Amino acid sequence: MPLRRLAAAAGLVLALLPGLAHSQEREFRLGLITPPVHVWNQEARSMGETLDELSEGRLSLATFPSGQLGSEGAMLQQLQTGALDMAWLTTAELTTRVPDMGALHAPFLVDDIEGAARILRSDEAREILDALPRATGTVGLCYAMTGMRQLMTTEPVDTVDELAGMRFRITPAPPIRSFFEMVGAAPAPMPLTQVYDALANGQIDAIDMDHESIINFGYYDHAPYLMETNHHLFGMVALISGRVWSTLSDADKAIVREAAQIHCDRTIDRFVAEEDAKLARLQEVEGLTITEDVGREFFGDIVERWDAEWAERTPYVERLRELAATF
Ligand code: BEZ
Repeated sequence: MPLRRLAAAAGLVLALLPGLAHSQEREFRLGLITPPVHVWNQEARSMGETLDELSEGRLSLATFPSGQLGSEGAMLQQLQTGALDMAWLTTAELTTRVPDMGALHAPFLVDDIEGAARILRSDEAREILDALPRATGTVGLCYAMTGMRQLMTTEPVDTVDELAGMRFRITPAPPIRSFFEMVGAAPAPMPLTQVYDALANGQIDAIDMDHESIINFGYYDHAPYLMETNHHLFGMVALISGRVWSTLSDADKAIVREAAQIHCDRTIDRFVAEEDAKLARLQEVEGLTITEDVGREFFGDIVERWDAEWAERTPYVERLRELAATF
């Protein structure tokens, strides 16, 4: 080929390159610890449809539920190396590497699920996401939640002293561990996927759980006492691997951000709208005894003690308490 024509052809390819990068097809892999019926999984699948629409068919999503890709800790490592593209992980999982996120698990930070939604949509909570790239190699796109946490026990409990020594399954996370150590329980950290069997075989006496998961898994089969404590909110962060993020064009970053935000918002709205109906559904479960309105007083001075420990680790305890006081 004459040199002139070769140069023209090369020029044409270069001119088309940005367009080519923009029109690349891509399927993202997204991992979750929750089962396919969980609201997170429903919304993550819908996010795939939104990505498809916003990108006119170029971007798609395959979800991997029920911890198929490993525990949340394992998924976080895969995100860091770029072996996994996306995950919807609990805020609890991130607290080991981002202590500021521990403040979201402050006991009795909010009175109800509406308050939880306001915290998760606050500028203060958004700021905490800024620490993720450096601490975890991920980008936090948005927050959602799985509702408020309650206590379920295998035996009836009337006073906080009766929790002492109970083997309490917790989501592995330092702020949650602090809470259960302070009430004198023996925290047993384990992934969600192991909880039902651990209750069934008597490995644990009690669990810290939300309405959605209680219904999904039927934990009342083996823990027939539910205390409505609403003792902390349980958040989720939609994450994308920092390595994967850096390969996306600005236009695709904007599409991914928009799709994630739509489904984080829908997830929060659904939890707020459905929380009471879930309690009503649990009230219909035969053999399940529910103690309602247990509240902060039951736990004595736990809030003061927890705050004293965690305010040393993060300024967000004070900032979020101040914010919640305005609700
Ligand atoms: C848990 O570890 O308890 C949990 C994780 C994700 C969603 C719901 C619960």
